[in-house]
Amino acid sequence: MKTQVLIVGGGPAGMLLSQILDLNGIDSIVIERRSREYVLGRIRAGVLEEGTVKMLRRAEVGDRLDREGYVHESVGIGFDNEVHSIDIMGCTGGSVVTVYGQTELTKDLYDAREKSGGKVLTEVEDVQLFDVDSESPYVTCNYQGEALRIDASFVAGCDGFHGPSRKAIPPSHVNEYHLSYPYGWLGVLSETPPVKHEVIYTSNDLGFALCSMRSDSLSRYYIQVPSGNQAEQWSDSAFWGELKRRLPEAVSRALVTGPSIEKSIAPLRAFVADNLNYGKLFLAGDAGHIVPPTGAKGLNLAVSDVYYLSNALVDYYKTGSEDLLSNYSTTALNRIWKTVRFSLMCTRMLHISPDSTPFEKKIQQAEIRYLLSSAAAKTTFAENYVGLPY
Ligand code: APR
Ligand code: PHB
Repeated sequence: MKTQVLIVGGGPAGMLLSQILDLNGIDSIVIERRSREYVLGRIRAGVLEEGTVKMLRRAEVGDRLDREGYVHESVGIGFDNEVHSIDIMGCTGGSVVTVYGQTELTKDLYDAREKSGGKVLTEVEDVQLFDVDSESPYVTCNYQGEALRIDASFVAGCDGFHGPSRKAIPPSHVNEYHLSYPYGWLGVLSETPPVKHEVIYTSNDLGFALCSMRSDSLSRYYIQVPSGNQAEQWSDSAFWGELKRRLPEAVSRALVTGPSIEKSIAPLRAFVADNLNYGKLFLAGDAGHIVPPTGAKGLNLAVSDVYYLSNALVDYYKTGSEDLLSNYSTTALNRIWKTVRFSLMCTRMLHISPDSTPFEKKIQQAEIRYLLSSAAAKTTFAENYVGLPY
């Protein structure tokens, strides 16, 4: 098999890239390790920056998002037993975020690729990358019981943190930066109405809590839990009890609880591969970086990577110039590091760390009070929350 761009990984990054390339007349093949059902069953975050929404419309997958997504003009910070609203629309002169689950977005992308006859091979095993630093890179894998070789002009590594693409860059060509937190988020999805039409990030002495939603009848809640906790050790009633203790009283009283339909724990960590390009191989999305979920930047960063990478590939196929491709890593990392900074700042400000000193706790509270009392601090927060410009 032969293609112009071989895309490893059929998550949102790989599927969006393949969709945009197709709209620009560039051929691609996506190879995905999991089944389509598995990929579309994963529950992930759901707050889309304005730039993400624009990209999805540009990729002609914005219709359902425009119909069903929830536009949020503000974000709530739960602190000192109250919810303090930050008017992100007012602070940014008109920008908003849209709440729309990553699961739905990925489904829209799979549907769009299917409709236009896109080549998406799922349940592909043993993917290996070869000669990515040459003019003729290729990938081998097993597909439907047969060995397959795919030759390509470019390889896009969109295969998440554990995928093989990043490992194809020699260690001497990439610096990897890691940070892990001694806690994670226990998330619950429930068929209950959201407690408020606003995402609420709460800081409490017992730990962080987050109220979010997917629709009028589907809610998503999280609580900070120590590393090593397992989702199975948390019964629904233990979860709801702990969530209620952490939320401001008025929110706790209004909270409607119900059986969980999904419950899982995500560890909190940050990771950046500082070099997203080696020869004809380009990394995008979680393959190149992970952010802690505070601020919901993971998916949005994957989309901004795809913005830069698709522009560079389209420019190459239109003009023959490799300038944008050569600059891809630097350009994308510039925005990635700034977004990692914001995610870390939010994480540090809102969580209770088991090893923080009384002094650090006081500073943390002062940081929240400063945010809630300063127009300049709110504007800075809002500017990052709606997404830095591409
Ligand atoms: N071969 C083929 N595909 C692979 C392999 C492999 N060896 N290893 C991993 N993959 C696939 C995974 O099964 C997954 O579907 O790559 C895909 C990567 O998708 P995501 O993990 O969703 O990452 P990405 O597309 O970069 O999207 C980033 O997803 O994890 C969240 O926080 C993240 O919201 C952000 C978004
Ligand atoms: C979610 O809705 O799942 C969500 C919202 C905000 C975050 C993270 C996740 O920061």
